[in-house]
Amino acid sequence: MGHLLGVNDLTNEQVRELMTLARRLKEGEEVRVRGRAVLFFAEPSTRTRLSFEAGARRAGLEVQTVNAHESSAVKGESFYDTLRTLEALGADFTVFRVPFVLWPYGEVTGVKSALINAGDGTREHPTQALVDLFTLLERLGSVEGLRVLFVGDVKYSRVFRSERVLLERFGARVGVCGPATLIPRGLEGVELFYELDEALGWADAVVWLRLQRERQKEKEVPSLSSYFKLFGLTRERYKRVKLFLHPGPVNANVDVEEELIYAPKSLVAEQVRNGPFVRAALFALLKSW
Ligand code: NCD
Repeated sequence: MGHLLGVNDLTNEQVRELMTLARRLKEGEEVRVRGRAVLFFAEPSTRTRLSFEAGARRAGLEVQTVNAHESSAVKGESFYDTLRTLEALGADFTVFRVPFVLWPYGEVTGVKSALINAGDGTREHPTQALVDLFTLLERLGSVEGLRVLFVGDVKYSRVFRSERVLLERFGARVGVCGPATLIPRGLEGVELFYELDEALGWADAVVWLRLQRERQKEKEVPSLSSYFKLFGLTRERYKRVKLFLHPGPVNANVDVEEELIYAPKSLVAEQVRNGPFVRAALFALLKSW
C-alpha cells in the first residue's frame, strides 16, 4: 500500500483510474474496503475533514478523528511518533493535516499505514487537486489545452502547488495573477499576469484562492478592500468569466463577492459534493496499488 504525500506519488494512469472509480461511485456503485482510517488534523478544516470522513465511510472503513490540539502533540510528541502510535492502535490509513512542510520525506519512512496528506503547511494538498481535476473533467470532459488561471494568494497556496502540477500533467496551461507580494518567484512554464482583466481574457477557467492572512508574516496587501478591487471576483468581472472554482473556505467580499459564490458559473458547491467520492476512490485504490 502506497502513500499519497504529493500529487507526484501518483502516475497519470493511477490518476485516471481514480477519476473513473470516483465517477462510478458518484453514479451509485459501491466499494468495500476493510480497515480503519484515522484522521489527524492539526489545522482548522470543515470540508476536507468531513469529506474524508464521509469518503472513508462510503468506502466501508471504520473512521476515527483526532483533534491534534487535544493530542499528545501538545505535550511534544513528534509527528513521526504520532504516526507510529496511530498505526500501533490500528490505523490502516492515516489522513493528516499539519502546519509544517513535510520535508524531507525521511520523516515518514518506516510507517506502514497508508499516509494521505490533507495539507502540509504551504507545500501540497493533493486530494484537493484531485477533487478539482475531477470537477473540471466532469464538466468539460478533458483539460487538454485548457487555460486555467489561479488568482490571488498563490504564494501560500498548497492547493495551487498540487493542482498546477496535476493540471499540467494532463495537458492544461496554467496562469497566475495576484499582487506581486503574493506571487512566488521561479514559476517556470506558468503565464504571469499582474492585471486581472487581462488575465481573464486569457483564461478558460479560473480558480480563486483564499487570501491566507493567517500565514502572512507581515502585511502583504495594503487593505482588504483594495485587494478585492484589484483581484476579487466582482459582478463586473463575473460577466467575463466562463467558469470558476474556489477550494474554500471563501473570504466573502475579499476573494469573491458574496452573492457570486454559488452563482451559475461557480463550481464551488460541486467541488464540495465531489470530495467524498474522490476520497472514497482513493482509499479503495491505495489499498490495491
Ligand atoms: C484549502 C487548504 O486548507 O489548503 N482549503 C481546503 O482544504 N479546501 C485552501 C485554504 O485554506 O485556503
